[in-house]
Amino acid sequence: MMDRRTLLGAAAAAASVPPALAADEDRWAKIAAQYDITRKTVQLEHGNWGMMARPVLAAYRGQVERVNRDTSFYARREMPGEIEAIRARVAAAMGVSVQEIAFTRNATEAMRALILGYNRLRPGDAVLHADLDYDSMQACMESLKARRGVEVVKIALPCPPTHQGLIDAYDAAFRANPRLRMVLLTQVSHRTGLVLPVAEIATMARARGIDALVDAAHGVGQIDYRLPDLGADFIGINLHKWIGAPLGVGAIVIREGRLADIDVDAAEPSANPGDIRSRVHTGTVDYAAQLSVPAALDFQESIGLAAKQARLRALRDRWVRPARELANVEILTPDDPRCYGAITAFRLKGQVSHDANVVLAKRLLEGHGIFTVHRDGLASGSCVRVTPALATTMDEVDRFVAALRNVAG
Ligand SMILES: Cc1ncc(COP(=O)(O)O)c(C=O)c1O
Repeated sequence: MMDRRTLLGAAAAAASVPPALAADEDRWAKIAAQYDITRKTVQLEHGNWGMMARPVLAAYRGQVERVNRDTSFYARREMPGEIEAIRARVAAAMGVSVQEIAFTRNATEAMRALILGYNRLRPGDAVLHADLDYDSMQACMESLKARRGVEVVKIALPCPPTHQGLIDAYDAAFRANPRLRMVLLTQVSHRTGLVLPVAEIATMARARGIDALVDAAHGVGQIDYRLPDLGADFIGINLHKWIGAPLGVGAIVIREGRLADIDVDAAEPSANPGDIRSRVHTGTVDYAAQLSVPAALDFQESIGLAAKQARLRALRDRWVRPARELANVEILTPDDPRCYGAITAFRLKGQVSHDANVVLAKRLLEGHGIFTVHRDGLASGSCVRVTPALATTMDEVDRFVAALRNVAG
């Protein structure tokens, strides 16, 4: 992979966005207005997927019509070349070579291929995952016990987390489990939005002969970095979250020289094993979605990732700062800029049950018109996740703060 910067370097780049730009409400209002979102309800649940901005949606509509009209006559002749050019564009945007990336339908498909296909494990080896990892990736990790005869170790990440505390937690787990060969790392948690110090942990892992498989489903486009900054050889990403491509586009990334460590997909017996596209067999996909990726990248690039990250953090800070003053509210995501992006989770103090957080999200919606989502699976208990996006206005965040004062009061 090319262009190695550290994540700290990326954080510094974001910090260098002129404050006037990050705070230029006119500019951000114009960007928010590019999203045809229903504003009857304040939408603070952009973690599920990222809506397309109007130009992306227009491009997608055009591609749907084109694929439908030109049918297989197009798909069998011009389309492969066009998709290949798009793969090259995505590779360049991500900082990897085209041979290191292949489209999938989503991050799950990519991570599933990496976790289940990682073939360096031998019976008696161990693998590691954590409570913050995505449920289906945890399930894939657990399945390795039966599939590969390995010990599956699960840790609970420190709560409240700190940058160093997270590094220390993985360091302790690596020391305690000398048979570890592979670790799953989730760059940005879908539960709390916590940003893991992936580069630091992956480097520590590498020194011990442990490979890091990184779930960057929420990282790409939310955090200002490029894939090589993660310092990992195996990564799964989504383009339909923070890149705002149509639903159904993700990618698997395997660093040059590491392809042999991931099995060829069983449905690809005659594929060239030296081609990364042999690692995931998707079958027929929404070609129009893939063909619209350049429009999504154009839109993102017109904003700039550092500026975008600064804006997302500003939206997040706008509610977290006053919420920290509320005696009855517990914020689960730290304020260290290395540890968060757009997403942050909270709960009412001591209210850790699933039901309590379902009710909390319901009160916000039915009593105040604020849409959020409860999240389960943290070792410390359930919570409510709040996810603004570029479509969100500061005014909407202020409405959420008022609602929060009310429900926490
Ligand atoms: C951390 C993480 N990994 C993986 C996924 C799965 O994404 P997809 O459903 O697009 O495959 C998500 C979805 O929210 C996620 O948050």
